[in-house]
Amino acid sequence: MDDRKLKEHICKELMDMADEWEIEMERWAEKHPEEDRELCRMGNPDFIAAGVADRENMCYDKCSQKRSKEEPTMYAEFDESLVTGNEMIDGQHKELIDKINKLVACCEQGGGKLEAIKMLDYLSDYTEFHFSAEEKLQEEISYPGIEEHRKQHADFKQAVSELHEMLEEEEGPSDAFVAAVNKNVIDWLYRHIKGFDRSVAEYKNMKAQADRL
Ligand SMILES: [Fe+2]
Repeated sequence: MDDRKLKEHICKELMDMADEWEIEMERWAEKHPEEDRELCRMGNPDFIAAGVADRENMCYDKCSQKRSKEEPTMYAEFDESLVTGNEMIDGQHKELIDKINKLVACCEQGGGKLEAIKMLDYLSDYTEFHFSAEEKLQEEISYPGIEEHRKQHADFKQAVSELHEMLEEEEGPSDAFVAAVNKNVIDWLYRHIKGFDRSVAEYKNMKAQADRL
């Protein structure tokens, strides 16, 4: 579930619970923009008193807590929607997903801090190898979107390094850490493969066809 849907879901549920707040909510809502009104309906006085950014965070935290209690941890899955058609890229994506799932499984099964750091290091090393291979391929075919693609890869490496810091600061992998893996690794990878990596594979095929003519 994406953040927006999650917010809508939690706001709706809390709205149902917040009957006693309804009148005050309405009074407050009249003076605030539409987006604030929706969040305001969460029915929490601290929430109402907080600034907009804090309200967003509180909403996100509540959503994450609720998700971790009610929904099983999301493992990544390589399905049809992730196939780029390039054998090398697809094979490496499967390996990457396997490493992500080993990290999530380690957190789920009560693996300690050191074990989680080890799994994250494996993921990080493989990510380096995979991104280098993808970038080399893009250089070989003179892919025009290579700089933007490189930036995407750099952003992901930064996200992995932030996860590393998060683990170092905690006693062991927390629910918040697993939620961050879901959001910053799994969701990111799905979006990246479906958009950026597919474009590379399509460009390579187009170029090969053009060269044959
Ligand atoms: Fe990529």
